[in-house]
Amino acid sequence: EKDIQSKLPLRGKKVLITAGPTYEAIDPVRFIGNHSSGKMGFEIAKCAANLGAEVVLVSGPSFQQVNHSFIKRIDVVCAEEMYNACHNYYNNVDIAICSAAVADYKPAVVVHQKIKKKDASLQIELAPTKDILASLGQSKKNQLLVGFALETNNEEENAKGKIQRKNLDLIVLNSLKDKGAGFAKDTNKITIIDKDFMIQKFETKSKTEVAADILNVIINKLNV
Ligand code: CTP
Ligand code: CA
Repeated sequence: EKDIQSKLPLRGKKVLITAGPTYEAIDPVRFIGNHSSGKMGFEIAKCAANLGAEVVLVSGPSFQQVNHSFIKRIDVVCAEEMYNACHNYYNNVDIAICSAAVADYKPAVVVHQKIKKKDASLQIELAPTKDILASLGQSKKNQLLVGFALETNNEEENAKGKIQRKNLDLIVLNSLKDKGAGFAKDTNKITIIDKDFMIQKFETKSKTEVAADILNVIINKLNV
C-alpha cells in the first residue's frame, strides 16, 4: 500500500503551471513576443500529472501538445490574460509553478486597424505588464510558489533577489551560459535555490528529466 502511494506522491494535490511566451498586440496582425517554446512548462505539467497531481496548465502561444486526463490546458495570448487565468485558479491550488516567459512590456496602446507602412511613426510606446508571479507571491496563503529565472550574469544573486521580491519558496535558475540550456532546446541545466538560499545544482539533462528533478525538490519541501 505504501508502495502505491509513494509512486503517486502528488495525488490529491492541485498544481497551477504557466508555460510558453506571451504575445503583446501592437495591432491586429503584429505583436511583441519571445522565443519560448513552452517545452519546460509542458514537461513539468506531464510529470506532475504522472505523479498524481491535478494540473491546470496556463499556456501562452505554443506548439506543444498534451493529452492527459489530469491536465486542464488553458490557452491565453497576452500577459493580462495569463494573469487573469492564474488568479482564477490560484486560491484552490497547493503548488504554483511559473515557467512562462512573460513579456515585461506591452505596447501602451493597441491600434485596432493594421498600421499602414506610410502611417507608421517608427516608435512604439511601451507600458509594463503585470508581474504574474509577484502578484501570486503577494496573495500567497499556503501555496508552495515556484518561479523561474533566466539570467546571463550575477545569476545566483539575481535569482535570490527574485525569491525575496516575489515572495517565492523556490526558484529554478536557468543559465544561458550553458550551451545545452534554454529556449527551444531539448535540454536544460538548472540550479534550484530555496527561500533560505540553499542551493542545489543539477547536470545538463533532458527537459523531461529536469521536470522530474524540479518536482522531486517540490515534493521534498511538501513533506517537511
Ligand atoms: N514573471 C511573471 N510575470 C511577468 C514577468 C515574469 O510571472 N510579467 C515570472 C516568470 O514566469 C518567472 C519569473 O517571473 O517565473 C522571473 O522572470 P524573469 O523574466 O527572469 O524576471 P523579471 O522579474 O521579469 O526580471 P528581469 O526580466 O528584469 O530579469
Ligand atoms: Ca522578464
